[in-house]
Amino acid sequence: MLRAKIVSTASYLPEKILTNHELEKMVETSDDWITERTGIKERRIAKEDQAVSDLALAASQIALDRAGLDAKSLDLIIIATITGDMPVPSSACILQDKLGAVNAAAFDINAACSGFIYGLSIANAYILSGMYKRILLVGAEVLSKFTNWTDRNTCVLFGDGAGAVILEAATGQQGIYSVDIYSDGTMAGLLNLPGGGSQNPPSHKSIDNNLHFLQMKGNETFKVAVKTLESLVVDTLKKNNLNAEDIKLLIPHQANLRIISATASRLGLDMNRVMVNLNKCGNTSAASIPIALDEAVTSGRIEKGDYILLEAFGGGLTWASALIKW
Ligand code: ACO
Repeated sequence: MLRAKIVSTASYLPEKILTNHELEKMVETSDDWITERTGIKERRIAKEDQAVSDLALAASQIALDRAGLDAKSLDLIIIATITGDMPVPSSACILQDKLGAVNAAAFDINAACSGFIYGLSIANAYILSGMYKRILLVGAEVLSKFTNWTDRNTCVLFGDGAGAVILEAATGQQGIYSVDIYSDGTMAGLLNLPGGGSQNPPSHKSIDNNLHFLQMKGNETFKVAVKTLESLVVDTLKKNNLNAEDIKLLIPHQANLRIISATASRLGLDMNRVMVNLNKCGNTSAASIPIALDEAVTSGRIEKGDYILLEAFGGGLTWASALIKW
């Protein structure tokens, strides 16, 4: 049976670390508040000259090296991001040039924090249709450049980074078993970055009104996220005729430890079977799952034949899950 199989993972985090204690000097907050409410202790911040395609390039090169592949062998490059280099061209085209992936088609997708799993659904469909055999999928964000560093409601949450996977057409047991994506645009106002598009093009007024920064109604988003994710993971297991005991590792989007714990507890999963790295990375939106996946792989937390469950929730609103046999 034909499946889309992840043959390589990689990640890249910018060097600069911004700790909660440093944030205490920037806005009225405390390490205790951030730790208790989110689980985040520090996050990475890209350099001024680093754009999404630069972070994506670093992760992609490692993914290609680990798989022993030449960039010319890629059929398609997808970057999931909400902080692309520029509106046009796509960051994926810029990455294609930097990699020399001359035979690949390339485009970006925007599903906020669910972007990586949305990307998996696209890669899966292309591979199952026979249209493409080898796809590079990257989740990359430079959220720090769209963060209002005077707004304590949001600036303590986000971080920069990139994670990459290479998917190939394969036969056998390993690969994607299910991938499900959902949206509800009626709640678009809960999390947005209203400036810079055709509704509010860049202007002095849009800058004065802080429209070029991420804005979030955190508490309302939190409630919808917990409720939605709890039923999403249960439905995903049911669809695959699996029980929580069958899952080796839950790899959730890293937004908030309380959301992650609530989802794990709904499944009856002990936290030692849940991948958590938001303490070090913060919320890196579309990059968070591939970064966490790469850490799970490189630290030996998942092995061939293990079932892993990915889930995410983000702006749009969007949410998504994937069940993979490693
Ligand atoms: N430091 C100290 N106090 C703060 C801070 C801060 N950094 N931020 C907010 N507060 C205060 C608030 O002003 C409020 O004070 P008040 O009671 O006097 O009004 C109080 O703390 C509680 O604020 P809440 O917003 O109710 O806090 P909550 O427990 O909801 O935590 C948080 C906030 C962490 C943002 C949480 O709501 C959350 O994680 N939301 C979901 C995030 C998410 O999943 N987003 C989707 C993915 S992101 C994407 O797609 C890009």
